[in-house]
Amino acid sequence: MMDKPYMLQFPQHGDERGWLVVIEGVNDVPFDIKRIFYIYGSDESVIRGRHANRKSEFVLINVCGSCKVKTNDGRGNEDIFVLDKPHAGIYIPKLVWKDMYDFSEDSILLCMASEYYDPEEYIRDMDEFLSEMSEV
Ligand code: TYD
Repeated sequence: MMDKPYMLQFPQHGDERGWLVVIEGVNDVPFDIKRIFYIYGSDESVIRGRHANRKSEFVLINVCGSCKVKTNDGRGNEDIFVLDKPHAGIYIPKLVWKDMYDFSEDSILLCMASEYYDPEEYIRDMDEFLSEMSEV
């Protein structure tokens, strides 16, 4: 389970005031959260991501709007996930190539990561990724 991307559903705490979703590191996502960032101002014409990470695991949630995530494990397995709910996310393990695309104009994509930012652990060349994956 740990080495494949999969969807996560988060409980919604609702009452007459609205909804609240809680995400605790380790308890609600399968890692300790070291970093969060969010992406907005994209639209259906852009593709973001286009990389794999040697160390970082991620959980991505469209807290507003929607986008799609295409994952590729470098071993012939490609999947497409739709993120369109503030209470559902995708878990992406390390060493998985990801493209985020088809953003709605109101999309706010919240990303949680297991590691601090280190550009050295990003693989941004698909051929390099495929060659590294064929060696392990
Ligand atoms: P980039 O990796 O291109 O974003 P995406 O994966 O969504 O396409 O990052 C965009 C810019 O932000 C780039 O200059 C690097 C910087 N950045 C950080 O400084 N820290 C971070 O944690 C991230 C994810 C990006």
